[in-house]
Amino acid sequence: MLMEQNRIFVKPIFTQEEIKKRIAELGALISRDYQDRNLFLIGILKGAYPFFADLSRAISLPLQVDFLMVSGHKVVSALTQDIAGCDVLVVEDIVDSGMTWDSLKKELQKSPLKSLKLCALLDKPYRRKVSVAIDYVGFSTVNKYVVGYGLDYKGKYRNLPYVAVLDQISAEEEGLLYSA
Ligand code: IMP
Ligand code: MG
Repeated sequence: MLMEQNRIFVKPIFTQEEIKKRIAELGALISRDYQDRNLFLIGILKGAYPFFADLSRAISLPLQVDFLMVSGHKVVSALTQDIAGCDVLVVEDIVDSGMTWDSLKKELQKSPLKSLKLCALLDKPYRRKVSVAIDYVGFSTVNKYVVGYGLDYKGKYRNLPYVAVLDQISAEEEGLLYSA
């Protein structure tokens, strides 16, 4: 299936059905691991918003939620609640260089946490600049610039209900997407 949006073609690589199935699996795993714990989910904006909404509803435990806005690998907003003593699980769209997680970890570790773990829908392990161990990952080894299901290209495509690659984009242009 190819879909045209503003004359750039987007080709699904993870369909709505595949995402739904994987999130149900992650939700079950997290529900098992965090039983009798004090689970606090922190969603990273903007990219994680659809994943966060679906994942949080796939977890069958009482939990609290808050959000942090990250831009250019830096945390640019503050939490609205105290997370001291909580089992914090950060929910990210994708881990690429690992720089964002590096900043997030430093920021969140200012509070005395019971535990701090990371859940990311997508992973690009070969692009790391700093090493990151992701505790829960949806789909690994994504090797293209992807959009949809929260991920953007120039601010657009976040609302696509699936993850897609942008077609008709040269390797050179694709390189530029990373620095955009
Ligand atoms: P990191 O700090 O390099 O790990 O970057 C993580 C952030 O870069 C993600 O949260 C995304 O916002 C963005 N990013 C990395 N790869 C992609 C991609 O393929 N599509 C859209 N955004 C991406
Ligand atoms: Mg992001």
